[in-house]
Amino acid sequence: METVTTVREMKARSRAWRRHGLSVGLVPTMGFLHRGHGSLVERSVRENGRTAVSVFVNPAQFGPGEDLESYPRDPARDSAYLKSLGVNVLFMPEPSEMYPPGFATAVEAPELGEALCGASRPGHFRGVCTVVLKLLNAASPDRAYFGLKDAQQFFILRRMARDLDLDASLVPCETVREADGLAMSSRNSYLTPEERAVAPLLRKALLAAEDYLIGGGRDPAEACGIVGGMLSGESRFVPDYVEAVATSDLKPVSEVSSEILLAAAVRLGRARLIDNVIFDPSGPSRKPRGGAGC
Ligand code: PAJ
Repeated sequence: METVTTVREMKARSRAWRRHGLSVGLVPTMGFLHRGHGSLVERSVRENGRTAVSVFVNPAQFGPGEDLESYPRDPARDSAYLKSLGVNVLFMPEPSEMYPPGFATAVEAPELGEALCGASRPGHFRGVCTVVLKLLNAASPDRAYFGLKDAQQFFILRRMARDLDLDASLVPCETVREADGLAMSSRNSYLTPEERAVAPLLRKALLAAEDYLIGGGRDPAEACGIVGGMLSGESRFVPDYVEAVATSDLKPVSEVSSEILLAAAVRLGRARLIDNVIFDPSGPSRKPRGGAGC
């Protein structure tokens, strides 16, 4: 595995791969990698001739007072992990490489970017869209891989790719979880042992609402109420939002008649946890789970 730090080098590697007829996969990350990231990387390595992974803690997607400075980092461990997964290039630019003096352009996704997480993180998705477009330009991948833990992010980036006629196909990947159902996240490292112990309640609440939908319930307010009710049972949770929106435009729905994203965010100590279920009423029928499995 080779580590490159400039856009120029990344472009040269990608061009050389293409000249040899090799397909290219890209996995954008902010590092402090876990098995959730690893599942995206493994898929890219399986599906492409060459895989590049970017590790870049993107200042543009952090708001004032957010955790940019304290965001967890471990480049040596990340590098060893990616090497073990068969990655060809680790792209690790400095902020000054991605945003040189005079940088003055941004990609906006005003409607989709203001829903859900965008309401409490203004400008966040502008930062995400801008950096992902730059990373796609640098690596020119055939496929780029994103996790559905950050479902809003995926739906916004998918729209950006369509609207701006990008060549890469964006591949959604299932959320990877801890044994107790908590979605893996670099920010889980902020949780104290006591907070970590109650964190899986977010998943349990979403699964209870999913069971309501699988059982034929079609009232989004009721589904959100189930989640909100269960979250209120844990006083350490400070709910940010619980919402049911259409996956097509991220607008709230009044009835569950097409695919919805039921998403929730809570603050728990220093961490902000997000999770979701995607439910399609016309999709293959699934049995209610009964209990709190994942
Ligand atoms: P980061 O949080 O590091 O996540 C990188 C990718 O890994 C994202 O596509 C995210 O959805 C995915 N991912 C994270 N946890 C996951 C899990 N438990 N299961 C499956 N996939 C998971 O998301 C970002 O970085 C940034 O916003 C980025 C897209 C890199 C732009 O800066």
